[in-house]
Amino acid sequence: FQPIHEDEQKFVDFATILVQKAGTLVRNAFEQTESKVDTKLSDTDLVTETDQAVEKLLIDGLSKEFPDHRFIGEESVAGGAKIEWTDAPTWIIDPIDGTTNFVHRIPMIAICVGLAIKKQLRAGIVYNPITRELYSAQVGNGAFKNGFPIKASKNESLKKAILCQSLGLHNRVYFGDAWLDVAQSNMRNEALAGVRGHRSFGSAAINMVMVAQGSCDGYVEYGIHAWDVAAPAVIVLEAGGCVIDPTGAPFNVMSRKVLAASTPVLAKDLSSILTHVTFEPEAI
Ligand code: IPD
Ligand code: CA
Ligand code: CA
Ligand code: CA
Repeated sequence: FQPIHEDEQKFVDFATILVQKAGTLVRNAFEQTESKVDTKLSDTDLVTETDQAVEKLLIDGLSKEFPDHRFIGEESVAGGAKIEWTDAPTWIIDPIDGTTNFVHRIPMIAICVGLAIKKQLRAGIVYNPITRELYSAQVGNGAFKNGFPIKASKNESLKKAILCQSLGLHNRVYFGDAWLDVAQSNMRNEALAGVRGHRSFGSAAINMVMVAQGSCDGYVEYGIHAWDVAAPAVIVLEAGGCVIDPTGAPFNVMSRKVLAASTPVLAKDLSSILTHVTFEPEAI
């Protein structure tokens, strides 16, 4: 492990404790039957008071400790904050990945905190406060679940692959019905290629840590945001998996698309059967 900032370890240790505090907040709220649900850009784009409270807890805590750090957080951006992608240490935060699951009390949710320094992803924390599974990774240091090392599968065959997928229904608001066509067409392409199974956990981060721990073999999604993938991407890579652009190009955390796979062979084969879509990130 070679830090690119002298205090990198301190940053990560502090964030890990804070994420667990945030987890207590989410767990308590999860047990309550009534939570106030608002919608954002569409009827399927949900937000609750807990999403906002968790993001506030994380940003307040981190900025108090590290005043010169920057933040890219889902609910702050929804509230009008500008995305500033600079060389400064930047925390990329999804307070609850899987808000729809949270609202329906489906225990597949994750608090995601990624750290970038000089625009390079350096660390990822993905915590499911309901199952108390804490996934973590730092570049060059391996990936862990509750402190134990995890590894992606060695699967190189689509026919033996369990793929994670999402229709990303709220993306329809940005991209229209063409969006749904691409998502559906890709599930169809994969089914025709003879994959072993599809799963949809309702959280990009859970899909990705499933790849990191070797339970699933691949995951593709168009329309995701930096906060969905920054933290779990580090975990997949450090678990020995592969994270690329769905077209086969290098992964760009700001590009709103991702393909994660257990091996480079599987990533390439998956990429080659997909229907790709191009869009202007600035239109989003
Ligand atoms: C969503 C979940 C979902 C994915 C969407 C994301 P949110 O995040 O990760 O699985 O399909 O694209 O936006 O809104 O629950 O944080
Ligand atoms: Ca959301
Ligand atoms: Ca998310
Ligand atoms: Ca979220």
